Amino acid sequence: MENKQSRGIIITIDGWSSCGKSTMARQLARKLGYVYIDSGAMYRAITLYFLRNHVDWTDRSEVRDALGHIELEFHYNTALEQAEMYLNGENVEYVIRDLVIAEKVSEIATIREVREFAVEQQRKMGQKKSIVMDGRDIGTVVFPDAELKIFMTADNAVRVERRFRELFDKNPNITIQEVKDNLEMRDHIDSNREVSPLRKAEDARILDNTDISREEQLNLALSWVREVMDRSDG
Ligand code: DC
Repeated sequence: MENKQSRGIIITIDGWSSCGKSTMARQLARKLGYVYIDSGAMYRAITLYFLRNHVDWTDRSEVRDALGHIELEFHYNTALEQAEMYLNGENVEYVIRDLVIAEKVSEIATIREVREFAVEQQRKMGQKKSIVMDGRDIGTVVFPDAELKIFMTADNAVRVERRFRELFDKNPNITIQEVKDNLEMRDHIDSNREVSPLRKAEDARILDNTDISREEQLNLALSWVREVMDRSDG
């Protein structure tokens, strides 16, 4: 596969919250030498900006004005071997994972102007291909022509447990119920919003990782990459 990597394809990974999309996308990008972009981090950083600056996001002109003051960039952290989200020059990778952000981000991600702002930047990031991007609308809206589309799912209880473990490390006061409520709320908003709702692209392959290990899911995805590349080799 090494030689074929130089051509580079676009891999999209969409799915419900806490299905392990980012773990999968990161693994895949590392293995292929691709760039990994966490599109959810962009919506989270915008949410952080709105909250900090008391933006009234029900007011379209306030939203447009605020977006004009937002600069989003990913910078690679060589020590941690991961790209991190910067908001106007500040590393916000850690703070955007907070439940306070998770409680508002889905609502803010329903706003058309916010989505247009994020999607435009996401498309620019994909111009050179060799990219793995995860989110909710990457295979359907951002890169409808992507060579490989993956739609991830996992059992609800497994997802709640995974997210709980992640958040508990930062906040030992958090409860399973809070995490469950937040996931259910986000799934509902993400899949019912008017603009670019969460949907499986028709040509996406489903990856249910409820009962498989990280290694197994990576191998499955790599076999799909190989298949796609072999096919395009004719
Ligand atoms: O992947 P995540 O949990 O970090 O995403 C945070 C929120 O951002 C999620 O609730 C929905 C929204 N989102 C989106 O609407 N479209 C994307 N491409 C990525 C995330």
